[in-house]
Amino acid sequence: MKSLKDHLGGTKLRHAIVLGTGLSRVAQVQADDRIIPYAEIADFPLLHVSGHAGQLVLRRHGDGYDAFLLGRAHAYEKGDAAAMKGAIGALAQCGAQSLILTCAAGSTRAHIPPGSIVQIEDHINFSGLNPLIGETGDRRFVPMVDAYDAGLRHALKQAAQATQIDMHSGVYMWFSGPSFETPAEIRMAQKIGADLVGMSTVPEVILARFFGLPVAALAIVTNFAAGLAGGNPTHDETKRVAEQAADDVTRVLSHFLAQAS
Ligand code: HPA
Repeated sequence: MKSLKDHLGGTKLRHAIVLGTGLSRVAQVQADDRIIPYAEIADFPLLHVSGHAGQLVLRRHGDGYDAFLLGRAHAYEKGDAAAMKGAIGALAQCGAQSLILTCAAGSTRAHIPPGSIVQIEDHINFSGLNPLIGETGDRRFVPMVDAYDAGLRHALKQAAQATQIDMHSGVYMWFSGPSFETPAEIRMAQKIGADLVGMSTVPEVILARFFGLPVAALAIVTNFAAGLAGGNPTHDETKRVAEQAADDVTRVLSHFLAQAS
């Protein structure tokens, strides 16, 4: 099977964007784009969750490609927190300048209602899982202060301002899923400083830092978290609301990519 490097055929990689649940259309696939199923790229995952397409879209930009990853593999699928390790490692190896992650999330804050876009500024990992468990050598002890790259965060904030999208910022807490949280778990999350809860992103941030890839993340709030303001999330609701917010995310990311060198 061809590696990502083979598929790129010598063209450099610029920025990579992972599109989460219900957000595939953010890529706005165009006639000139190259679309490659993950199944045809060595080390990319096979996906099994509805709302996740499993395709890589390569879009020419200047002398390089921007890459959209339509869908991700989650730790809850097989208990493997390193499910995205191959793909993120390949992006880093091919010289990607940045990785922008997107995801759906539940909100624990009344002032961040469904439909909001939130830039993740930090995270809480209480899942007991870590994609680097089993790594050997000192590189596994990855520092996580400023894990979310300050330059990318600034650029995304600027992109939101320029496109007049109201973007919040907040702390995301990773629950392994796939069951949603209980109201008691959400009350705890709220108390310890989580603004958002979700089932992805955190392991990918850890992997990106492991591979030395600058990373940032945007969450789309699809619901109030369990027990808050009547919140009782379902996967259908997550997909539906994420799809509704996809246009705002598209505007922010298109502007970011247009401005990025
Ligand atoms: N919890 C966990 N993951 C989620 C949620 C939630 O409330 N909403 C969207 N993804």
